[in-house]
Amino acid sequence: MKRVLSGIQPSGQLTLGNYIGAIRNFVRLQNAHECFFMVVDMHAITVPQEPAALREQTEAVAALYIASGIDPDKAAVFAQSHVPGHAELGWLFTTLAHMGELERMTQFKDKSAGKDSIGAGLFVYPVLMAADILIYNADLVPVGEDQKQHLEMTRDLAARFNGRFGECFTIPEPYIPKVGARIMSLDDASRKMSKSNPNPASYIAIMDEPDMVRKKLSRAVTDSGRAVKYDPANKPEISNLMSIYAHCADMTLEEIESRYEGQGYGGFKKDLAEHVVSVLEPLQAKYRDIRQSGEIHRVLAEGAERAEAVASQTLRDAKERMGFLLPKP
Ligand code: AMP
Ligand code: TRP
Repeated sequence: MKRVLSGIQPSGQLTLGNYIGAIRNFVRLQNAHECFFMVVDMHAITVPQEPAALREQTEAVAALYIASGIDPDKAAVFAQSHVPGHAELGWLFTTLAHMGELERMTQFKDKSAGKDSIGAGLFVYPVLMAADILIYNADLVPVGEDQKQHLEMTRDLAARFNGRFGECFTIPEPYIPKVGARIMSLDDASRKMSKSNPNPASYIAIMDEPDMVRKKLSRAVTDSGRAVKYDPANKPEISNLMSIYAHCADMTLEEIESRYEGQGYGGFKKDLAEHVVSVLEPLQAKYRDIRQSGEIHRVLAEGAERAEAVASQTLRDAKERMGFLLPKP
């Protein structure tokens, strides 16, 4: 049984991109592996957050995990800030990380572009992420394509620590879906679908009402051709809609191509909207039940307890190897 860990930031409405690229794989992995799924609230504050909104979104992301099918009896679901070892190990790794490697991170370059005041937390963000993963000695990390570079840095930091202080950390593997690892914006297929995009028509939020989903998808940008054909290089918009279709209808790209052969985009887009709605509607109903029941607090408390038991051991081991004088038990 492998150990699996991942996290999502509570920094706005989660999108269909988060669902297809990440959460669906969390659900698939939980049956065969020991899983830890976090709400990474300490990563969210690397850009300014309204305190009340941060609290609300933290609960919301945890509830969405459960509504999506994560079973808290199988997987530990918890908030990153409830396990203080993440921040502590993060600091230890900050002393091993190099400025140069952090400067090369494309997410940092994207998020800091054009800003004249950039928080230092945004810069060291990947170091905290490395601590998140390594503190559980995770084997597999299910993420979307955009996190691949952070995973590579995590592997480098683990190897660097092990090389200097002895074998302490497992080198983790990324687990990235073949199709759907990068769902693109509905208004611009050169950018990933993102909850931080100021234009809400560019993304489908998991909590969007059915009519909103239909409206957004009917207006999604497509090329001027007619053929429903998967060709990301030449037809990025329709190819993006096709990968959403494939996931929501549980069909292959070839099956979709043959279903719409000679038919143009109109019917395809209408059907696509119904498939997306059929995935989101039951999830939204479950989400509302969970929020009303108030059970999320118990889930988070139990999750944190399970996570803490593993994290505190790893942290102790790492500190001892680095030469910290440990308090006598
Ligand atoms: P974030 O919203 O940045 O915390 O991302 C949470 C997870 O969702 C990460 O594993 C991301 O790689 C994944 N993700 C975010 N946006 C997309 C997208 N547009 N397509 C596929 N995966 C995504
Ligand atoms: N950086 C990830 C993102 O933006 C979120 C994250 C933080 C994460 N810690 C993690 C993902 C640990 C996987 C494992 O999507």
